[in-house]
Amino acid sequence: MSPGEVDSLKIYTLSEDYTGYDSPFWASFGISFLLHIKSGEGEKKILFDTATDSEPVLHNMKLLEIDPHDIDLIFLSHSHFDHTGGIAGILKEIGKDEVPIIAHPEIFNISIMPEPYTEPYRSSIFLNQGLSGKNSKVNIEELGGRWYLTADPMNLMTGVMTTGEIKSGDKVDYERVPNIDLLDLKDGKLIPSVIRDDISLSVNTQKGLIIITGCSHAGIVSIVKKAIKITGIKNVEGIVGGFHLLSAKSGTIDQTIKDLKNLNVNRIYSGHCTGFEAEYKFRNIFSKDFERLSSGKIITFK
Ligand SMILES: [Fe+2]
Ligand SMILES: [Fe+2]
Repeated sequence: MSPGEVDSLKIYTLSEDYTGYDSPFWASFGISFLLHIKSGEGEKKILFDTATDSEPVLHNMKLLEIDPHDIDLIFLSHSHFDHTGGIAGILKEIGKDEVPIIAHPEIFNISIMPEPYTEPYRSSIFLNQGLSGKNSKVNIEELGGRWYLTADPMNLMTGVMTTGEIKSGDKVDYERVPNIDLLDLKDGKLIPSVIRDDISLSVNTQKGLIIITGCSHAGIVSIVKKAIKITGIKNVEGIVGGFHLLSAKSGTIDQTIKDLKNLNVNRIYSGHCTGFEAEYKFRNIFSKDFERLSSGKIITFK
């Protein structure tokens, strides 16, 4: 299925764990991007994830002169709090009667860290359940959020497609094991979490696909392969987001970089959960085609 093509894509980094020295932008744990997409059928502003809290995202939006009211829809890459935590606060500022939210049907799953965790403001065992409390399903609906939950790929506008769930058959061997150690609470049982709700977004520009990920729990190589498969477009101009290689073995990082090179990925923009070793290696291999994400960073594709 050909997704068509966009005229331009501008990515504003609204939240990233890093902001650089002497930056007026706030760093905060988690990812949030504003995607401004123009195509023949018009333009859309898509909020991709909402980081841990709304305050840094709204602060950075102000500096970037982005009016929250202009946001057309929200895409949530997965449930974890560092991607969904800011949603209620941002919806309040959007202030619309109806805002579509695209996510996987398992976005409300409850995940638990199997070991004691001592981070000061997240002492609850429901560590990775982002959509609870002020961000509960019902509260989000009261603030105008309208859920569009599907495990299938979905066309959001000409040239813009979600990957849908990356099923086991679409995964490369070494990405079948989850890259984070969590337990899912399901029907009264604790089972290892496979983070089925991890989905990504592909935007087809004139230079090729730009694939935007949250944490890449489905595995960055498998995500890129799935995006190529469903769009039929083989040229990948860039991948942008967190690749969750921070706890990966050195051999897995090397294999990941080799496979991304073999898939003809041209440019890498990473941060968040990618990890220092992987970033160092990406930098070595991709050279000037590797850039570290930071709050406030703007990336433009035409
Ligand atoms: Fe994350
Ligand atoms: Fe995550």
